[in-house]
Amino acid sequence: MQVYRCSFILLFIFSVLFSFSYALSDHEASFLARRQLSTLPENGNLPDNYEFEVKVEYTFPNSRLRRAYIALKAWKEAVYSDPFEFTSNWKGPEVCNYKGVFCSPALDDPNVTVVAGIDLNHADIAGYFPVELGLLTDVALFHLNSNRFCGIIPESFSKLKLMYEFDVSNNRLVGPFPKVVLKMPSLKYLDLRFNNFEGGLPPELFDKDLDALFLNDNRFESTIPETLGNSSASVIVFANNKFHGCIPRSIGRMSNLDEIVFMNNNFGGCLPPEVGLLKNVTVFNAAGNTLSGILPKTLDGLSSVEQLDLSRNSLTGFVPERLCRVPSLKNFTFSFNYFNGEAKGCEPHSRKDISLDDTDNCLPDRPKQKSQKQCQPIVSKPIDCSKAKCGGPSSQSPPHEKHEMPPQPKPTPTPTPPTPKPQPPKSKPNPPPTLKKASPPPPLKSSPPPPPPIDFYPLNPMTYHASDVFGIQKL
Ligand SMILES: *[C@@H]1O[C@H](CO)[C@@H](O)[C@H](O)[C@H]1NC(C)=O
Ligand SMILES: *[C@@H]1O[C@H](CO)[C@@H](O)[C@H](O)[C@H]1NC(C)=O
Ligand SMILES: *[C@@H]1O[C@H](CO)[C@@H](O)[C@H](O)[C@H]1NC(C)=O
Ligand SMILES: *[C@@H]1O[C@H](CO)[C@@H](O)[C@H](O)[C@H]1NC(C)=O
Repeated sequence: MQVYRCSFILLFIFSVLFSFSYALSDHEASFLARRQLSTLPENGNLPDNYEFEVKVEYTFPNSRLRRAYIALKAWKEAVYSDPFEFTSNWKGPEVCNYKGVFCSPALDDPNVTVVAGIDLNHADIAGYFPVELGLLTDVALFHLNSNRFCGIIPESFSKLKLMYEFDVSNNRLVGPFPKVVLKMPSLKYLDLRFNNFEGGLPPELFDKDLDALFLNDNRFESTIPETLGNSSASVIVFANNKFHGCIPRSIGRMSNLDEIVFMNNNFGGCLPPEVGLLKNVTVFNAAGNTLSGILPKTLDGLSSVEQLDLSRNSLTGFVPERLCRVPSLKNFTFSFNYFNGEAKGCEPHSRKDISLDDTDNCLPDRPKQKSQKQCQPIVSKPIDCSKAKCGGPSSQSPPHEKHEMPPQPKPTPTPTPPTPKPQPPKSKPNPPPTLKKASPPPPLKSSPPPPPPIDFYPLNPMTYHASDVFGIQKL
């Protein structure tokens, strides 16, 4: 009795808290994570036949909508705060009329209507993911950008075989990298940025046929697996974590790569010469790491690069004319390093056509440079990248032992350090055009018109750019 009353009071307190303050304290987040944990079956998976064990008071046009109803009902019960009342019409059997829920003819049977997408972007909902969400087996789009979902991604999500765009960015999710996403065979767009995921990355992540991968602004802390080069992705963002080790040399094999961002981690060693093989890359950003040594001679092989940012590292040597003359180049920032020479065409004042920044280096005769005293120790001891780890032809690939995942998902999130949170992702989640058309009306209307059944198969790939989605504040 005492226990029940206590948790009732707690619940009451939390619902009051949640309804008046949108920010979720660490305490509240861990409360929700614990709630989730207490509901999860042992392995976080759904028992087979689970749907038949659930009593449902309605009849449905087909069994898939019945399953969706069970899932959404459980989800609504796992919502603790919904300030914009996204889920308030989640009642009754008409799941296709639920706000943020989108139906479409099934891929395998056009006569059957199924729940094909969830779009709760910017709903600011606090809650967790119940295991029943694994019943949403027809869902291809899952857009939950900018909510306050806590806890982990349950293993039951492995049943979501049609998942194509999985966006849980800017929530309060915790635990190791959610390996369950590796079991979604159709996945193309994976967006985990702005959460509290930690630990390492599974090497299989880069064997997946992804188009975009956002890992930025979490607490990942590992080397990048050498499998990176297998990746088919066009956009990858590692920014604002604690990744370390060298940039894998296999990077040169990434034939679809358009934008890659390593910014603000602890990557070290020399830039691998294989970077110069990335002929189609338009954004290469390795700023804010501990890269050292000279620039590889091959670097001007980045023949499509527009934005090149190598600032805030410990790079040395000469910045060559050929690099600054790459025709596509628009902005090359190499400030805050230890370069001690630059070609004429790399001096900012000599170029009206592009933006260059050479400040805070060791460049003789240039303004705003480091002092002799700061430069001397680094410049006088050049690193031989042909011998240094990661640089030269015979060098070792980065050690592998750090790739393993930490042993167990942590049930509670660790407290966030009081660093100002970078602004949330500007959400690419411009859902595909068709979905957008049916996107929910302004949140205050109490009974939104039911979205017409829409046809968003086949899915239109979204357009996204590393540079405009990860919303990083300049340090
Ligand atoms: C869909 O319905 C039409 C007309 O009722 C029928 O001819 C067709 O065979 C059905 N298709 C499937 C895949 O069941
Ligand atoms: C991925 O990369 C690793 C190491 O670079 C390689 O051994 C492996 O065969 C690759 N896997 C696939 C599926 O291509
Ligand atoms: C660059 O893109 C073209 C056209 O998409 C492709 O054929 C080529 O293999 C790519 N090159 C590299 C080095 O990735
Ligand atoms: C060039 O890039 C740097 C860093 O990536 C950025 O801070 C700066 O605003 C850019 N300059 C222009 C003119 O776009």
